Amino acid sequence: MHWIVCPDRQAQTKACAAIIAAQVLQKPDSVLGFATGSTPLATYRELIDLKRAGVVSFELARTFNLDEYVGLPIDHPQSYYRFMWDNLFAPLEFRPGQAQLPNGMADDLGAECARYEREIESAGFIDLQLLGIGHDGHIGFNEPADVFSKDTHVETLAERTIDANRRFFATRDEVPRTALTMGVGTIMRSRRILLTAFGADKADVIREAFCGPVTPRVTASILQFHADCTIVLDSEAASKL
Ligand code: GLP
Repeated sequence: MHWIVCPDRQAQTKACAAIIAAQVLQKPDSVLGFATGSTPLATYRELIDLKRAGVVSFELARTFNLDEYVGLPIDHPQSYYRFMWDNLFAPLEFRPGQAQLPNGMADDLGAECARYEREIESAGFIDLQLLGIGHDGHIGFNEPADVFSKDTHVETLAERTIDANRRFFATRDEVPRTALTMGVGTIMRSRRILLTAFGADKADVIREAFCGPVTPRVTASILQFHADCTIVLDSEAASKL
């Protein structure tokens, strides 16, 4: 694993954006894997600035998102589809079809998961996957479990994740209980991984995931076995290493 520990959030953001931009500069038709959550937001703003400044073009890139809630229509303010189009894809002037997310409104969720997995495979798999990390060590929505999941699947969210996501919804009851997520296997098939975190509240899970044993109880720990994984942290998230 490659570690980049930055003095503050601004440097952490710039480091992540630089890694993604460099990937696209080297391979303009890169397949990028994107994530939601508060962690990548500033990185997305930085990428938009780089695009507007003419430093990098995403015209030939394709993207796949990690996950989507089950049962939220795409125009719901908290759907990951909406989050990505508002915060990244529309400002980058993406064409419809350039970005894919799993469809959490599909009638047959199992068939949708299989379709999504096939799409990633036929795109030649993901060149660079951006990841945040949940407080329980989840990546995508792969919650702590007895075994690592292989492919895109329906996941039941942990109570702690529902609590963490509660802040985006009017009531706790409105937070979806299930989501479609790339599996740990899907994520591990990416050629490069960029996991990023900031803030003191992520310090414990970063230590557990990357300084402890590889275990499906802390999903992100599997990244210790990835051949090209970069971890970008601010000093607070790195404070317990
Ligand atoms: C959600 C997303 C994850 C993300 C996590 C952490 O569970 N599915 O991909 O890493 O939230 O979110 P935040 O970045 O807001 O801490």
